[in-house]
Amino acid sequence: MSTFPTVRPRRLRMRGALRRTVAETRLHPSQFVLPVFVVPGVDVRKPIESMPGHAQVSVDQVAHVAKEAEAAGVGGIMFFGVPDEKDDVGSSSWDPLGPVPQALETVAAAAPELVRWADVCLCEYTTHGHCGPLKGDLVDNDAALPLLARAALAYADAGADIVAPSDMMDGRVGAIRSTLDDAGHTDTVICSYAVKYASGYYGPFRDAAGSTPAFGDRRSHQMDPANAREAIREVRLDLAEGADMVMVKPAGPYLDVVSAVAREVDVPVVAYQVSGEFAMIEAAAARGWIDRERVMIESLTGIARAGSGVILTYFAIEACGLVGESR
Ligand code: PBG
Ligand code: ZN
Repeated sequence: MSTFPTVRPRRLRMRGALRRTVAETRLHPSQFVLPVFVVPGVDVRKPIESMPGHAQVSVDQVAHVAKEAEAAGVGGIMFFGVPDEKDDVGSSSWDPLGPVPQALETVAAAAPELVRWADVCLCEYTTHGHCGPLKGDLVDNDAALPLLARAALAYADAGADIVAPSDMMDGRVGAIRSTLDDAGHTDTVICSYAVKYASGYYGPFRDAAGSTPAFGDRRSHQMDPANAREAIREVRLDLAEGADMVMVKPAGPYLDVVSAVAREVDVPVVAYQVSGEFAMIEAAAARGWIDRERVMIESLTGIARAGSGVILTYFAIEACGLVGESR
């Protein structure tokens, strides 16, 4: 093997156009999905303090956000509902007139090019903020399954292309698949949050979605940050139950897991750059400690390079203007 001075890796880096020609990873707007928090009411746009540029929006405002995302070229939009009414079992999650079904219908009319995603979980809808009904201090796994399936069905009925269960209950993908199929929604895609860690990076989200647990935490069902091999087990089980895509979440601190999952499976791998990852970049940039746009694109490039072709990110709209033909 020849070496220096014959070989000079710098040759390929010295000119921007050449660097771009040989880039191994390319970002494209269509791979970004924008998460949006929907509240009841009209004309609501309530800024989320820990997530600069993001707000809780009412259904009428969803049309504006969706049109902006579609115009930028964003691939999809993912909805989280922040309901007025909560109870022990989270029954407002399957209300056909709830914020998420209405937002889905709004997008279908206002921005038909966007792929419509609906997060499926009960923690925004339960008084106690846990991801399903409780038995003692813990979520009752098996009792949660039909309720999650009911919520997923309401979103499919409202035109969701993809339902994405984020609860981490065992068996929920199978329960959702059979409920959707029985109702004739055989073409609705399931993207499971197969690998979701019990993470401190969800802090800003829990403010945005009003889903902070009233007591305890989610360690009984979300994964231990120490584990990577277990991620493969979770992914295999969800695929066996009928998941069409699998997600790893958070993204940045778990790129080894994204990479391992991408090597293991033959379905699309999704990564979620979560609220805390977003907020850290915004906070450091606001102090002038990092170059915001540069770090934004670098963080997304890292996620794509690790093997995730689909990226949920709060930067979705802005990132579209910074990738692809414009660069
Ligand atoms: C709800 C859910 C959470 C996120 C997505 N779905 C929070 C949690 O599990 O507490 C986090 C997303 C983010 O932080 O951006 N199950
Ligand atoms: Zn939840």
